Amino acid sequence: MGIRAEGSSPPIMNLHEIHTPVMLERCIELLAPALQRDGAVFVDATLGMGGHSEAFLERFPGLRLVGLDRDTDALRIAGERLARFGDRVTLVHTVYDGIADALASEGFPAADGILFDLGVSSLQLDVADRGFAYAQDAPLDMRMDQSAGTTAADILATYGEGDLRRIFERYGEEKLAGRYARAIIAARAQAPIERSGRLVEILQAATPAAAQRTGHPAKRVFQALRIEVNRELSVLERAIPAALGILPVGGRIVVLSYQSLEDRLVKRAFAEASASTAPRGLPVELPEHAPRFRLLVKGAELATDEERAVNPRATPVRLRAAERMREDA
Ligand SMILES: C[S@@+](CC[C@H](N)C(=O)[O-])C[C@H]1O[C@@H](n2cnc3c(N)ncnc32)[C@H](O)[C@@H]1O
Repeated sequence: MGIRAEGSSPPIMNLHEIHTPVMLERCIELLAPALQRDGAVFVDATLGMGGHSEAFLERFPGLRLVGLDRDTDALRIAGERLARFGDRVTLVHTVYDGIADALASEGFPAADGILFDLGVSSLQLDVADRGFAYAQDAPLDMRMDQSAGTTAADILATYGEGDLRRIFERYGEEKLAGRYARAIIAARAQAPIERSGRLVEILQAATPAAAQRTGHPAKRVFQALRIEVNRELSVLERAIPAALGILPVGGRIVVLSYQSLEDRLVKRAFAEASASTAPRGLPVELPEHAPRFRLLVKGAELATDEERAVNPRATPVRLRAAERMREDA
């Protein structure tokens, strides 16, 4: 199936070539016990190009899908790809912290299985004019939802040096954050920084030759800008408890994270949900103190060496999964 992203000129791509769903079989295996029932509801909170969703719909013939994405291009492309499943598919344009409202507004009281495959899609990275990739010169947009919000260029034009430094440190874990923030302030006094190519030049010029770098000098700054533009961490921090809240007993959730800041938030939310609330020293745990969830994998699971070898996007992935054991008090 060929696709053309709105507002972009040439790329006609093959969906299966540009995105191989990460840890697909493991996601299916972990969510399967919750999805066997005819009419079970699966929420793909990060629909993207529908790769995971398509496989779930094929594997579970009685499954209903509710697919969420904040990117209207993704919804359109996934909509075409999943059209053959007819009314088993409902797609909703929303930020995923609105998961409970999205479900309720479509008439579903709960979700049996939920998948979050975080981060940007291959489509967003590969379509140059979205501005996510430092390797391609493009307008510095970086909004996953191009219908709303502040662009990366707006941030570079308006944030003070202290705020730029803070986001590069916090969201990019960038050691040269202060130096890069200063260089941006100096450069924008000459001319606005509107394209990724110019930002890369500014960062390269500000990087001391002796600095020990892992990867491209722009990598961490681009990550930080993307997180700030899309408010990724604050949205995720609200979304995980909201998702846990719509799972019935036996319902399961899987989250795939691609950087440590996201994974830390998921780890913390799962740890809290799977902890006993019994006061210390009680000889017996009362039912109302029992953990609401149990963790389905120990720690964070990685992709296999075989998968990493064929799909480089699987290299940084961290998978976490949980199952609801009892209702909230
Ligand atoms: C890695 S891709 C998902 C790929 C998908 N699993 C597939 O197989 O095609 C992540 C998707 O999540 C979307 N996304 C990221 N953050 C979001 C948020 N806060 N709310 C809704 N969608 C989000 C992005 O727009 C992107 O399309």
